[in-house]
Amino acid sequence: MTFPGDTPVRRELARFMEEHGDETARVWADTIGPAFEIGAEELEFLAKDMREAQARWRAHIRDPGDVATYAVLREHARGGFIAEHPPSRFLARQIKIRQILVDLLSREMREDPKLPELLGLLDQALWERILHITDFFVEARLAERRRLELQLIQSEKMAAIGQLAAGIAHEIRNPLGIIMNALYDLGELLPDPTPEIREDLQIARAEMGRVQEIINNLLEFSREGASERQSVDLNRLIKQTLRLMRKHFETAAVEAHTTLGEIAPCHASENGIRQVLLNLITNAVQAMPHGGELRVSTSPCDGERVLLEIRDTGVGIAPDAVARIFDPFYTTKDPGEGTGLGLSVVHSVITHAGGTVEVVSAPEHGTTFSIRLDAAHEGGRVA
Ligand SMILES: Nc1ncnc2c1ncn2[C@@H]1O[C@H](COP(=O)(O)OP(=O)(O)OP(=O)(O)O)[C@@H](O)[C@H]1O
Ligand SMILES: [Mg+2]
Repeated sequence: MTFPGDTPVRRELARFMEEHGDETARVWADTIGPAFEIGAEELEFLAKDMREAQARWRAHIRDPGDVATYAVLREHARGGFIAEHPPSRFLARQIKIRQILVDLLSREMREDPKLPELLGLLDQALWERILHITDFFVEARLAERRRLELQLIQSEKMAAIGQLAAGIAHEIRNPLGIIMNALYDLGELLPDPTPEIREDLQIARAEMGRVQEIINNLLEFSREGASERQSVDLNRLIKQTLRLMRKHFETAAVEAHTTLGEIAPCHASENGIRQVLLNLITNAVQAMPHGGELRVSTSPCDGERVLLEIRDTGVGIAPDAVARIFDPFYTTKDPGEGTGLGLSVVHSVITHAGGTVEVVSAPEHGTTFSIRLDAAHEGGRVA
């Protein structure tokens, strides 16, 4: 027996479920309360949740085109009840509810010739539901495993590149210093430099300055650059950085807003965090070539941590590029405009501080970087 589209039997079952919604929830709560030792308050909350879930399921039974129930279940598998408990517990709940409905139907519609059809439809709907829930569960677990694998690959890759970067930076730093000195000497020693020579020397010094900045960034990115962690007043650093960049915002037609919450000091390197803010805010401004909005917010999170969010309304990041933006030298900017080290430094500073960086981006709409850092404890890790 199958039940296509919108049929009288579908409407009849949905109506029955609606009329007996409260009773179904009550019988269910009376059964699971003692079995799982759930208190009255939580039970009331669960029963309400169940009534809402039943209403969505009912809507789907009446009209199979209404799939809100599956949208909610799929989301739930990623972060709600189904994700937190073994899925069998959730499936058992569905089976229990079906049993309650079967009992109610058999009692109240004993004499009704439609009873077998209603029971058949209920079973069809239940099996469909169980298959979907199982699928959502497997899908969510696979996505979580993939996320962890990518995180692991990313951190291993960063560690390997960090070592290489530190080695190269060390090797280059000394000859670089010698060239800078030689350039300075040349400027002093040349008795009567022509304007062209003076200009060339100036260009050479400016470009050497750029190279030195890259070397410093590389050292910051590698373990070598990881400075001592201390107690950092994140809100103060944000205000300072935004003040420094005010002119920059005006020229770029960027409106900057802050929502700074009451947060504990963070356990991180102060200089590192300055760089993090500067790099993320510079990227955000560069992503809004025609102006836009920059939002910087802080708030307490996960009990002992601090959340920093930097959000722009810029061009966004293409989905296939998201996995690469933290790689050193990955840039989409024109030569001379970006070296692609900004975000690798951000990643390095934050992970050395025991924190995490996440990015969510919608191409053409904007990007949000979320950073979580440990709070510093008085007399604990931080003196
Ligand atoms: N807020 C953002 N919006 C859109 N794209 C971004 C954003 N932040 C970073 N990106 C992308 O990530 C790339 C890498 O960023 P990163 O800061 O590491 O390097 P860069 O800005 O290109 O150069 P550098 O920071 O060294 O000057 C950028 O080139 C850009 O494509
Ligand atoms: Mg950058």
